[in-house]
Amino acid sequence: MTSHTQTRPHERETLFAPPLEALLRDHLGADLFRPEPDTVGVAGPALVDRILAARPAGKTERPTFKPLLGRAIPHQQAATQMQAIGHDVRAALKREAPRDPDLSGPWPHVGHVYLRDLILGGDPRRLRVLMNRALELTPKLTWTVIAAGAALPAPRRRTGTTRLGALSTGAATYQERRYAMGLYRRTAAPVCFTISTLVANALWLGAPFAAEVPSRHLVHESLRLLPPSWNILRNSSPEYPAIDARIAPADDVLVLPFLSHRDPALWENPEEFRPERWEELDPERVPGYLPFGHSSERCWGRHMVMPLAEMLLDMIRSSGLVVDPGQRTARVPLTGLMGVDQVRLVQP
Ligand code: HEM
Repeated sequence: MTSHTQTRPHERETLFAPPLEALLRDHLGADLFRPEPDTVGVAGPALVDRILAARPAGKTERPTFKPLLGRAIPHQQAATQMQAIGHDVRAALKREAPRDPDLSGPWPHVGHVYLRDLILGGDPRRLRVLMNRALELTPKLTWTVIAAGAALPAPRRRTGTTRLGALSTGAATYQERRYAMGLYRRTAAPVCFTISTLVANALWLGAPFAAEVPSRHLVHESLRLLPPSWNILRNSSPEYPAIDARIAPADDVLVLPFLSHRDPALWENPEEFRPERWEELDPERVPGYLPFGHSSERCWGRHMVMPLAEMLLDMIRSSGLVVDPGQRTARVPLTGLMGVDQVRLVQP
């Protein structure tokens, strides 16, 4: 493989959706600003820390286990779901990976399908279809597919069904099946969607990578420049005006890792993809770096994210695949999950 067959990161242009571009242009480096009359944006590390430490995320603020079909998801049920998917991920990581899988094509789609088949491949079709990427576009379509699956009688447990799948297949009534399938999607979707997005972002930002840089550093640096959870919302709450008088009692607070991760006061050459910076830095302790949320209640899935993302990057790095030299631009749309919409991986 020769370097002239590859697009170098500096030849690539990342095109942010206009509201994201405006955030960078108008508010980078700001401690607190007001994007809407009743919302404040917060990106100063000390203030971010105090806001997120002030109280835990409320039921409707939680990204994964917010209420489902009008029912709050009890903490114990959320924990059971997470234990099940954690078990399934560990089992998948232990299995021998298929030799030389074809990871070429459009990412994050390719990574999504690979993870879905690797982790959930043994589940009944009615559950696996819930991981279809097309469903991401419209929640209504997701519920239509769930309703169609739930209308079928409860299937017999097959060998190969994952632990998460087993939690979702025992329900006797239509309503319970609908709820169980919604819960399956809530738990499994982040594993496929967020990790494939994170890896696609790393490829776009930095490939080809220097051989000596560990994939772990690539992941941290990708999470810095394109944090999939680029904003963390907290609804108005009496704790916040007490922390800072610029926050009114009715203000919602939008914590913005997207901005704190690029703040020139916190990072050397913030716009550059420099995975080497993580040789010196501890990702758990860098002020203003919070891709997985605040230390008081960090993402419950991060211990799955890191090994799966590293595994995919290791596989791609040893496959010889490159980012299509013809691809010079990638868009970052305004969605809940920040990432480039498509990166094409090709054989050189
Ligand atoms: C790149 C991947 C991921 C990123 C960047 C990410 C980021 C985050 C962040 C920022 C929070 C804190 C939210 C807040 O304080 O409001 C969070 C919480 C959480 N995450 Fe993740 N996450 C990722 C993947 C996952 C995965 C794969 C799972 C599950 C399988 C997961 C499950 C959770 C859960 C259960 C919470 C606690 C709040 C809740 O119940 O929703 N995350 N995550």
